[in-house]
Amino acid sequence: VVNIALIGFGVVGSGVFEMVTKNSEALKTSCGDDINVKYVLDIRDFSSHPSAEKFVKDIDIILNDNEVSVVVEAMGGSHPAYEYTMACLNAKKSVITSNKEVVATFGESMLKCANENGVRYLYEASVGGGIPIIRPLHKCLSGNDITKVFGILNGTTNYILTQMFKNQKSYADALKEAQEKGYAERDPRADVEGIDTCRKICIISDIVFGAFVDPNEVHTEGIPAVTAEDVSYAESRGCSIKLLGYTEKRDDGIVILVAPFMVSKDFILSNVDDVYNAVTVYGNCVQDVTFCGRGAGKLPTASAMVGDIIEAVNHPAFPNREFGRVNINICDHKTQPFSFYVKASGNISDAFADSEILCENAQGAVVITAPMTEHQLEEKAEKYNLKLDRVIRCL
Ligand code: HSE
Repeated sequence: VVNIALIGFGVVGSGVFEMVTKNSEALKTSCGDDINVKYVLDIRDFSSHPSAEKFVKDIDIILNDNEVSVVVEAMGGSHPAYEYTMACLNAKKSVITSNKEVVATFGESMLKCANENGVRYLYEASVGGGIPIIRPLHKCLSGNDITKVFGILNGTTNYILTQMFKNQKSYADALKEAQEKGYAERDPRADVEGIDTCRKICIISDIVFGAFVDPNEVHTEGIPAVTAEDVSYAESRGCSIKLLGYTEKRDDGIVILVAPFMVSKDFILSNVDDVYNAVTVYGNCVQDVTFCGRGAGKLPTASAMVGDIIEAVNHPAFPNREFGRVNINICDHKTQPFSFYVKASGNISDAFADSEILCENAQGAVVITAPMTEHQLEEKAEKYNLKLDRVIRCL
């Protein structure tokens, strides 16, 4: 029997417990052994839980038990998740996590620590919920020269945008529903302001480009500024508005940003709605490949974590690919060319002669510009004395 411990018994931790119990036969087939949850650590009282005898409050009980070889960290937040993870790795236990905050912030030192101790640090559930994306990047696609990755990486915001604009729900109702379904972060600002998406695109970028990108350095915009008018202009052109994480390799470094994009129907992502996430990866041989599935929720997230438990049991000492292997310049995002959806006041026909005009009147216009950098857009606005009321990048 393989003994594991869970740290944190919230939505995610209880989902792992449920799946390990419910799918015990499948796990046994995959691991060649029974998986037993020996301990569950949580500060709350679970004395009336049917498995109350498994619950503990002291991390040392787990650290000092040599029978426990794999620990599932499902606490959320950076502290004490980081300290507990390092202690488990140093006690030669593999750690599985869904905690994107801790991976994006401390991934470099935790992966190094895991390798020094000959154990695994696995984080499939930290990006894209139930979608297998981390292991495909590490394995199936790793022979490619990966040039660009972008994706819908937050279930809560995709759910809110879909409910607001396809089902005419209010922002507050849609957010409440996402919280009730267990999609949202404890502090929903992390979802709606793009912080969660930022952590996830940093993790992807760290894997594929080998740098270690500090999430605080990444230009991040959220969804609160998106209006029904923006959405109706998007729909009039057969597009959707989606919050994307975007990272691309250039000769002078990498561009990485988080923002709402007007996504053309030519991209699969434009049709990915509700809690679904999708990630499109461009490699020099695979060309483009898109992964799609449920980006949040109890059992979809558990599915990714249980996959990692199986990987840690079957390959306990396989070297983890570290972050920060190379130094890469983070380019100014305003030097990356995009077409822009622009709502501007002033006489804009001279400034944007080659644009697609969506609406024009005496006060101003709504246009889709030809590809240009944000610096060039700002220069035009200054030269032609325009006031830019709304700017959304297009894909
Ligand atoms: N709050 C996150 C989301 C949970 O909505 O996608 C999954 O990481």
